[in-house]
Amino acid sequence: MNTCICSMVGGTAILAAGRNKRMSFASELEANGYAHIPRRTKAQLREILRRLGSVIYETDVKIKPESKALVTSARALDFHTDHRKAKWVVWHCVEQTDDGGESILVDAEKIYAQLSVRERAALAKIMLFEHKIFDDDEECRPLVERRNGKRIFYYSFWLARRDLPAGQKAALNSFRAAIEREEPATIKLQKGDVLIADNHRILHGRRIIRGSQNRFLKRFWLSETTA
Ligand SMILES: [Fe+2]
Repeated sequence: MNTCICSMVGGTAILAAGRNKRMSFASELEANGYAHIPRRTKAQLREILRRLGSVIYETDVKIKPESKALVTSARALDFHTDHRKAKWVVWHCVEQTDDGGESILVDAEKIYAQLSVRERAALAKIMLFEHKIFDDDEECRPLVERRNGKRIFYYSFWLARRDLPAGQKAALNSFRAAIEREEPATIKLQKGDVLIADNHRILHGRRIIRGSQNRFLKRFWLSETTA
């Protein structure tokens, strides 16, 4: 069963500030699917992670010239979700470039709400190949499905089959077009900032990294906390 984030944070000092600030962090996640928490120490970050769930994967997101992976390049990243096992994606900013590198976020629920009933039905039939990270990863997962009364989006769009049936292709194009029309939340993380996104709801990406290019984020994937 899904655990409400409000109940997860209740009564515990996740943030150093007082009760109101704590509640605003929980409320932000509930209302928007993401939360930006400025200037957290490593100890405060650990407490946030502990309260959210279990860390299942950790990555250093910085430019690695020898790497072919998009995430470790300076290039812009289009909107997507990370691995489906990650309920929460948490970034802790170690360094930020002096030009570009903004995080961009779009709520998939808002996009989904703009689609017709037929398009929604077609989206649920689109199977995307899954990232191969963990030993028990499945071969593919639907772009959208319901579990425990909640929708789960899995938008690894580059893993979609190229030969989709016409109805599914049209629905995917509508989904993409709605994303492009949406004004994203744009956040330039500063040193120490924490950004949390509900990876089953929020699509994330980033702007191209220019300037000093010393952008360095610690990224954590956390499994869903269950009760
Ligand atoms: Fe990502």
